[in-house]
Amino acid sequence: MEKYIINGGKKLSGEIAVAGAKNMALKVFPAAILCSEPCLLKNVPEIEDVQRLIELMTDLGAKITHNTKGEYLVSAKGINKTQLKPDLVKNLRASIMLAGPILARFGEVTLAHPGGCMIGQRPIDLFIEGFQKMGALMEENGETYTLRTKKLKGADIILPRVSVTVTENLMMAATLAEGVTTIKNAAMEPEIVALAEFLNQQGAKIKGVGTPDIIIEGVKELRGGEATIIPDRIECGTFIIMGLMTKSQLKITDCEPRHIENLLYSLDKAGAKLEVGKDYIITHPSNLKGVDIVTHEYPGFPTDLQAPFTVLMTQANGLSLIHETIFPGRLFYTDILNQLGANIIMCDPHRVVVMGPTKLYAKKLTSPDLRAGMALILAAMVAEGTSSIENIYQINRGYENIVTKLQQIGADIKQISE
Ligand code: EPZ
Repeated sequence: MEKYIINGGKKLSGEIAVAGAKNMALKVFPAAILCSEPCLLKNVPEIEDVQRLIELMTDLGAKITHNTKGEYLVSAKGINKTQLKPDLVKNLRASIMLAGPILARFGEVTLAHPGGCMIGQRPIDLFIEGFQKMGALMEENGETYTLRTKKLKGADIILPRVSVTVTENLMMAATLAEGVTTIKNAAMEPEIVALAEFLNQQGAKIKGVGTPDIIIEGVKELRGGEATIIPDRIECGTFIIMGLMTKSQLKITDCEPRHIENLLYSLDKAGAKLEVGKDYIITHPSNLKGVDIVTHEYPGFPTDLQAPFTVLMTQANGLSLIHETIFPGRLFYTDILNQLGANIIMCDPHRVVVMGPTKLYAKKLTSPDLRAGMALILAAMVAEGTSSIENIYQINRGYENIVTKLQQIGADIKQISE
């Protein structure tokens, strides 16, 4: 069993570079299926989720060459199957991202319910509804869904709630549909804007991305091309919080500060001393006070930074109300923080109140999911004593080479197998 061993209390120093965004990479690989020629993808994070997606696409017949670190050549020409391998789908929520491109390109796709973090039941009703509006027929047999269509048709789609992957999936499918598709109440994440820019370079006709109303005019086919994955704003925010928690001067490089303006606003309100450059941020030791946050779709406070921010608030002076509006199951990790010595009261599944500062003490821990797992690393880095964290696959899903990167800035962390 692989686990992390962390000795808390160490100050950090030096520089840490932000990797390519997981939540863009997991969409650009499927987008390459829409293209009739190979696509070159650069600055791809070397993380487990990307490897799982590559396994899934290779199983379908795609040819994916790993040219060098972070660079992949994807050719979908050889795809000869439209059934996604169930056991691979179970490991990866983002496997749903293959549905739209395969349906649009081959007229049929079969998938089991996708897995991923257990942060709420993660339904796929909005995906199915959207594809049906575009003319696909859905057949449900037990655990799997098959969607079929002669040719997807443009449709006017209103999303009853904002969904990142639904927006991306329907946008990708619509690029090859007959006619015009509109998506109202679309998600506006930077990764979606970057995905649309990539598709438009290949000949797609997407307008309005980054606003709630996206318009896609279907085209016959898309060329091949090149995409560079944008910096991972969640990893960037996590490293800033890491620097502040350990009261360190830490430089975070290769990042895009304008993608985390809402986090920077809350950190500023908490009294964080930060130097913000064009593509870097430097943290300075700061005396923080508790501030309230409400997670919200972009450009609101990102739900993926809620757990790291909550851990930071255990070290801030005073009260903070953390309101998680997106996922019902995304605050249960606070129970583990209380076992470390934090003082957090759960008001309801969507709200906790944190009372700080509290001393944290090392413990044997298990990572519940990707982002909470990273939050436990943060907690262990300030806790007194030696902590261990199991189920680290959950963390390696989304953070590239994390042990080496943290060791290089002075963290006392190592990975052992017992
Ligand atoms: C994406 O998940 C991200 N994952 C998540 O990051 C991120 O937390 C989330 O967006 C919100 O920002 C990827 O991009 C791979 P949603 P997604 O659809 O698209 C409900 C991480 O840690 N919903 O925006 O799955 C859903 O239950 C991950 O990197 C339906 O009801 O999230 C949720 O409550 C975690 N029906 C809400 O929408 C559907 O068919 C928003 O979820 C689909 C979603």
